Amino acid sequence: MLHFSIKEQLKRIYERFSRSKKPMHRAYMESIHSLVNLAEAKDPYTKRHSVKVSNYAVGLAKRMGLSKKEIDNIRLAAILHDIGKIGISENILLKESSLTDEEYEEVKKHTKIGADILKPFKFFKEVILMIKHHHENFDGSGYPDGLKQEKIPLGSRILSVADVYDALTSRRAYRNAYSSYSAIDIMTEESGKKFDPKILHTFMDYLSSNKKKTG
Ligand SMILES: [Fe+2]
Repeated sequence: MLHFSIKEQLKRIYERFSRSKKPMHRAYMESIHSLVNLAEAKDPYTKRHSVKVSNYAVGLAKRMGLSKKEIDNIRLAAILHDIGKIGISENILLKESSLTDEEYEEVKKHTKIGADILKPFKFFKEVILMIKHHHENFDGSGYPDGLKQEKIPLGSRILSVADVYDALTSRRAYRNAYSSYSAIDIMTEESGKKFDPKILHTFMDYLSSNKKKTG
């Protein structure tokens, strides 16, 4: 499986904006790079996680046959999806035991905070929407707006699958990593509830074709 570092991911995004010949874009990208650095400094897990989510999300988007522009937007949204965690207390983010209801409500705010941080970047409208809705569930039980099915931006539905798969297959302070097989098993239980069934199915195709290539 091809894995790009955060530097390479950002370089690809920079290239897209340098092609647009708008000098302001360079300044915007530099601000975004600073934001990413800030988020990483606060929670080192975020760095590895964002890059891996981006690789999975882009691989999935390509497998779905999305356009280059959509894939570029998904790449950027994946890198920035948890940027709103900048606004959440470290005591909560780094807590190793389970969260209280109150703390969980606090964590949930990261979707809206992320969208607010990026609001000044007008040309990122679609990216901002993807970030705002990356915790919506296909059955409408997610947050922040309880959107359902196709009302959830396509990029958010893709991010959700990539995000949860990477979280499950990563080792955390409070639990070991799940194997790819167990992660898919857990996620299949949530097909049509948390995840868009078609997207989850395509993700499984993507994972197995990658295994064939690398294994
Ligand atoms: Fe998130």
